[in-house]
Amino acid sequence: MTIKRLGIVGSGIMGSGIAEVAARSGHEVILRSRQQETADAMLAGMEKSLAKQVERGKLTAEEQADAVSRVTVTTDLGDLAECDLVIESIVEDLHAKRHLFNELDRICGEDTILATNTSTLPVIEMAMETGRPERVCGLHFFNPAPAMPLVEIVRPLIASDDTMAEVRAFAEACGKSPVEVKDRAGFIVNALLFPYLNNAVRLLESGVASKEDIDAAMKGGCGFPMGPFALLDLVGLDTSLSILEALYEEFKDSNYAPVPLLRRMVTAELLGRKTKRGFYDYHK
Ligand SMILES: NC(=O)c1ccc[n+]([C@@H]2O[C@H](COP(=O)([O-])OP(=O)(O)OC[C@H]3O[C@@H](n4cnc5c(N)ncnc54)[C@H](O)[C@@H]3O)[C@@H](O)[C@H]2O)c1
Repeated sequence: MTIKRLGIVGSGIMGSGIAEVAARSGHEVILRSRQQETADAMLAGMEKSLAKQVERGKLTAEEQADAVSRVTVTTDLGDLAECDLVIESIVEDLHAKRHLFNELDRICGEDTILATNTSTLPVIEMAMETGRPERVCGLHFFNPAPAMPLVEIVRPLIASDDTMAEVRAFAEACGKSPVEVKDRAGFIVNALLFPYLNNAVRLLESGVASKEDIDAAMKGGCGFPMGPFALLDLVGLDTSLSILEALYEEFKDSNYAPVPLLRRMVTAELLGRKTKRGFYDYHK
């Protein structure tokens, strides 16, 4: 099956980015948000992001209009019934995701592939909430989705070869470079990245250096495009905490145990760019 019609659940940082990627590459996109205002804001944000690409000469005004015309937003999950593929990109919480997979399984046609954009959670747990576990996999985009070429395709133990081939073809049609990985917490990138980010917070907490100097050191010394605190603010501190908790739950390795400062910042709602304050201030 060729994937033409994509459903997305969740209109946060990643849901919006994936919608833009898929619409730009010619797919029909139906994005479900729980609130109409959020859905409308997401559409406006996407138009703005595409307009910037037109300004930079990466897209024509006609392509921009076409991409926007391919996206519809809804608050009704039932509108995703006819999709070939649904990608959920809601909060990184296993209970919420399992509940959603159960609902999607009842709503969507039996051939629809149900995928999760989870960063770390066990995909098999979502698959087993459905009557089609062989049609469930992980499709992990990176942030910001329009700019990052990688997609991790996560293969749960009982996913079918057809499912894996169809989502790979979809990722490639979106212009992405997929890699396949087993259903193990953190997959490839986050299993390697999050001990580093967590230990950066540990360094800061122990007073070894300022956040600015730690960021400058990792940019200047390792050639990273941004330092760990700028990256944590981009990912979102709540999402980062959930990722570390899922990694710790799976491996019980102290490198994954969230540093107390990170937890305190999440409690204080200092979540990074999305709340305009995290390690840095984004109010200006
Ligand atoms: N932020 C990143 O860098 C990044 C990168 C790759 C993957 N992810 C993954 O993508 C998913 C979404 O992350 P995000 O960064 O877009 O988060 P976000 O906080 O920007 O958005 C989460 C969305 O989920 C919605 N939501 C919360 N609880 C819900 C529920 N019970 N039912 C339905 N919707 C609910 C929120 O209203 C919000 O629109 C997570 O699984 C995350 O791990 C995040």
